Amino acid sequence: MSQLLISPLTRRSLLLGTSALAAATALPMRIAQASPITLTAQPARLPLIGQPDTTTRVWAFNGAMPGPTLHVRQGEQVDIAFQNRLEEDTTVHFHGIRLPNAMDGVPHLTQPPIAPGQTFAYRFAVPDAGTYWYHPHVNSAEQLGRGLAGAFIVEEREPLAVDRDLVWLLQDWRLTPDAQITEDFRNLHDMAHGGRLGNTVTLNGKVPEVFAVQSGERLRLRLVNAANARIFALTFAGHAPHIIAIDGQPVEPHAPVDGRIVLAPGMRIDLILDCTGDPKARFSVLDIFYPRQTYRLLDLVYAEQRLRDRLLDTPIALPPNPLREPELASAERHEIRFNGGMMGQMMMRERGMAGMSMRDMMASGKIWFVNGVATLGHVMAPMLTLRRGSTYVLNLINETAWWHPMHLHGHSFRVLRRNDAPTLRREWQDTVLLAPRESVAIAFVADNPGDWMFHCHILEHQESGMMGVIRVQ
Ligand code: C2O
Ligand code: CU
Repeated sequence: MSQLLISPLTRRSLLLGTSALAAATALPMRIAQASPITLTAQPARLPLIGQPDTTTRVWAFNGAMPGPTLHVRQGEQVDIAFQNRLEEDTTVHFHGIRLPNAMDGVPHLTQPPIAPGQTFAYRFAVPDAGTYWYHPHVNSAEQLGRGLAGAFIVEEREPLAVDRDLVWLLQDWRLTPDAQITEDFRNLHDMAHGGRLGNTVTLNGKVPEVFAVQSGERLRLRLVNAANARIFALTFAGHAPHIIAIDGQPVEPHAPVDGRIVLAPGMRIDLILDCTGDPKARFSVLDIFYPRQTYRLLDLVYAEQRLRDRLLDTPIALPPNPLREPELASAERHEIRFNGGMMGQMMMRERGMAGMSMRDMMASGKIWFVNGVATLGHVMAPMLTLRRGSTYVLNLINETAWWHPMHLHGHSFRVLRRNDAPTLRREWQDTVLLAPRESVAIAFVADNPGDWMFHCHILEHQESGMMGVIRVQ
């Protein structure tokens, strides 16, 4: 059975309202809800910027921002009755979930686009516990840029003991002075540079100011980057958060490098945050990714009362998911090169590639290239055909001057090396951030048959060429 459409805030107030439970345990609370889950994409007006008399016209799932957080148990069958109440085609993609190809929500490739007024039943089992999310895969830059996104939580069979288990879903909006979404989607400047960076960041659909915590509390924060293009690097002053999962997949708990929690579009990071501050203390959470545009995301504000005197010392490591371990010795290896973008044409010429002029690239809308091909739309011949059950190592080579979070559908992969240096933890991910001119080697067993998208999750890059299809047969 699938259940639960409930926001973190409601969970909190329910938990507090049930005094016996609140006092006794730290287990997350669940409420059974009838199957199927109903999900509707529709226009809505919501108070994003925190002024009650100013609403923003958005597109939202179930009229909420973000869409309802879907909670299911690991191994469960999910049944979602989706309806399109937009004025254009759409689909729903369940990002990071290793589901059957026909449920992957890619228009033309895995299903026909869902027309206005039409419905589609998404039914699949969820093999892996962790933090995932859902969003449309049609006209993605605009449909996500107008707000269509929600978190999808697959609960571990034995939940971690924490006081609160919360989603922090981050979105980035480009708003006019009267708080409306600007209409400049798909402009060439965004496409050729770093994508549609906005001017307003929201956390769970609101511009955050403060986040209330209690001394001694242990939080599990599930960060989701649902922005079109913004990369975050969050720092928690005065605290020592531990990363326990990346892209839903458990990782050995560790402190983030230099205290920066780097979250590119599409990625998720689960943190354990022990609230070690004193009552009434206040600490800032900053986003410092773009050095000349650092800002305060919110302040952690401590209550007057402690929750407990000693911190919890229960384990924070998550049990592994049933992923097949790549067999590196017998792996077949491929290179995938990325080119294009502003300043990219110069680099292509250096490499002796017959580059179009920047003006031609702009005019054709083909700005980014994967192994020399810029793909528009979702219909394309596979760039690679993989044998089901075999291990593949893909060496991803970023020859551009830009950052790219590359996302593979239907699989999780191990990140083996960055610029030839082995990674410390060989993290499982489904979206891996490549720095300008960086090479990253990933490995996975091609165990999920079908045609799978492989694309940049900066949606303006995806829509101007940076995608391909990997076939597993
Ligand atoms: Cu979240 Cu094809 O993407
Ligand atoms: Cu990109």
